[in-house]
Amino acid sequence: MTRKTSTPKNAAALIARGAEFSSVLLSWYRLNARRLPWRETPSLYKTVTSEFMLQQTQVKTVLPYFARWHTALPDFPALAAASEDQVLKLWEGLGYYSRARNLHRLAKAVAALPAPPKTPREWQELPGVGPYTAAAITSISFGASAACVDGNVVRILARLTADGTEYRDSATAAKAFTPLADALVPADAAGEHNQAMMELGATVCFRQNPLCLTCPVRGFCAAAARGEPAAFPKLAPKQMEQVAIARAWCERNGSLLLHRAAPDARRLASQHELPTAEHVGLPEATLAKGVLLAKKKRGITRYRITESIYTAAAPKGKLGAELVWVPVKELGTITLSGPHRRWITEIITRE
Ligand code: ADE
Repeated sequence: MTRKTSTPKNAAALIARGAEFSSVLLSWYRLNARRLPWRETPSLYKTVTSEFMLQQTQVKTVLPYFARWHTALPDFPALAAASEDQVLKLWEGLGYYSRARNLHRLAKAVAALPAPPKTPREWQELPGVGPYTAAAITSISFGASAACVDGNVVRILARLTADGTEYRDSATAAKAFTPLADALVPADAAGEHNQAMMELGATVCFRQNPLCLTCPVRGFCAAAARGEPAAFPKLAPKQMEQVAIARAWCERNGSLLLHRAAPDARRLASQHELPTAEHVGLPEATLAKGVLLAKKKRGITRYRITESIYTAAAPKGKLGAELVWVPVKELGTITLSGPHRRWITEIITRE
């Protein structure tokens, strides 16, 4: 069975003006692009590492990580030869640690090839590379004519076309907009065009309060013409789920009990965190009888999580392999997830 993919409304009108659109966009980009380290003196390695770091992460967060990473591991062979501990330590705090492990595996694969692949299809076979990253890497490094389509690009295209379709989620919308996005990529400046779209999404076409008055492609924008740019895209509201987690603060002889995630855990890969009630084999209600040291809220994807940290006695008997005692003085040398490092530091400095 072939599935019908809906074509965004008004796409044909924009495609008809595609060359003009991309020429106006490129002129704006060349004058206004932010100076970013992976753009200043580009290389395939810088493009790949920056694209991995920029998955789900903002430019301003990535900048210091990118600088440290390139000082420590300046090229594919250096990364391929690095230890996993070093790679994860350099990534610590950026989150979604499977990106770091995949990047490490990718570097080993690329270093073993006579030459790096050049097409989006070949790049998608490498670890951690989806359609967006493959398009970004190959368009920027090899001029491949493939569009990068993420939430920012969907937002721009949905506004340009005032597409009123309600999409189930952003992945569905990205799929629906990919043919239009591909049709707008100019054959002679694919990488710059993709980066110009990213730049427009990051600096002008904001989710709320887009800066239409200074937008270079306002003349192409059906949503701006209607005076309601922020009404697009139409995405079904996310179903948010509330989650409560109780965590144990077990301290003994100057050491803190931590849980180390499995190396192949997608989000935490080998990162340490304070153990949950389940990790230390206690019912949550028992753990909640301890002293409440901190209550923290955070959002991860569609979960709104409240984490309560309680003092607890050290678990009896032999610990599972994933639980480790770490001397407080050595916390700086292990990989802790970003929020847990902040919370632990806060509690220790308060003590
Ligand atoms: N987001 C993803 N890739 C990017 C890039 N190359 N420049 C700026 N932001 C990005």
